[in-house]
Amino acid sequence: MLKVKDLCVSFGGVRALQNVSFEVQQHEVLGLVGPNGAGKTTSFNVLSGIVKPTAGEVTYNGHDILKSSMHQRVTHGIGRTFQIPQPMHELTVRENLIVSQRFGRPDGKVKHQRIDEILKSVNLLHKAESDAATGLALTERKALEVAKALATEPTLLMLDEVLAGLETTSKKQFMETLKEIRKQYSLSMIVIEHDIETIMKLCDRVVVFNFGKVIADGDPEETFRNPEVVRSYTGEVHA
Ligand SMILES: Nc1ncnc2c1ncn2[C@@H]1O[C@H](COP(=O)(O)OP(=O)(O)O)[C@@H](O)[C@H]1O
Ligand SMILES: [Mg+2]
Repeated sequence: MLKVKDLCVSFGGVRALQNVSFEVQQHEVLGLVGPNGAGKTTSFNVLSGIVKPTAGEVTYNGHDILKSSMHQRVTHGIGRTFQIPQPMHELTVRENLIVSQRFGRPDGKVKHQRIDEILKSVNLLHKAESDAATGLALTERKALEVAKALATEPTLLMLDEVLAGLETTSKKQFMETLKEIRKQYSLSMIVIEHDIETIMKLCDRVVVFNFGKVIADGDPEETFRNPEVVRSYTGEVHA
C-alpha cells in the first residue's frame, strides 16, 4: 500500500528528514512518534505534496506519489488533517465538508448522504449549520478536521496530533470515534501523537523519529521498551 523509501528533506541547513523509510499496510494503523522537530509533520507534508523531498521514493497502491499533484494525491486516496485546525472561515460545518468532498472526488460531485454520514460518525451532525470558525469548541474543531479529511474519501487517513490538547475524557471519546471511523470506512491510518498510552491503544505498529531519522519501527509495546526510544522520546523509563 504506502511505501516510503529513503526520503530526504532539507530546509536550508536543517536536515528535517534523513533517509526515512517506512510502510503502511492496508487497514493498518501506524503511529508516528518522536520529540518536537523530529520530522513527523514534514513526512505528512511530503506525502500530501506540500514539501518536495530532495531524494527518496513514495508509492501508494503502485502510484508514484511524488510525481502526482496535491489534488491527484487526494483523489488517489491520501487524506490528512493539519496540526493547527484550518476550518474555512465564514462557512458552516456542512459547507466545509462540501468543499472538501468536491476537492476529493474525481468528478467533483457532492454526495449529501455521505456528508451526513460523516457528520454523524464524528458527532457533529447537531453542529452541521454552525459557523465552522466561531461556533465550535476545541474537540468539535478537531472533529471537523477529521470530518474534512474523511469527506475527501481517503483510503489512507493521516492525523497530525488531532488528540493533542484534549483532556482525558474527550481524548478517550475521540479515540473511540477514530476506531469506529477506521472500521466504518476501512481505512489505513497514520497517527502522529505524543501520548504513549494513546499510541498503544490505537496503533498496530509504531515508527519512532528522532532528529529526522527513523530510530525504531515495530510493535508499540516492544518499541516503547527499547531503551534508545525511551531516552530519545521521553527521557524517562517506562515499565
Ligand atoms: N517550512 C519549513 N521551513 C523551515 N524549516 C522547517 C519547515 N518545516 C519544518 N521545518 C523544520 O524541520 C524540522 C522538523 O519539523 P517537523 O516536521 O515540523 O517536526 P515534528 O512534526 O516532528 O515536530 C524542524 O527542525 C523544523 O523547524
Ligand atoms: Mg508536528
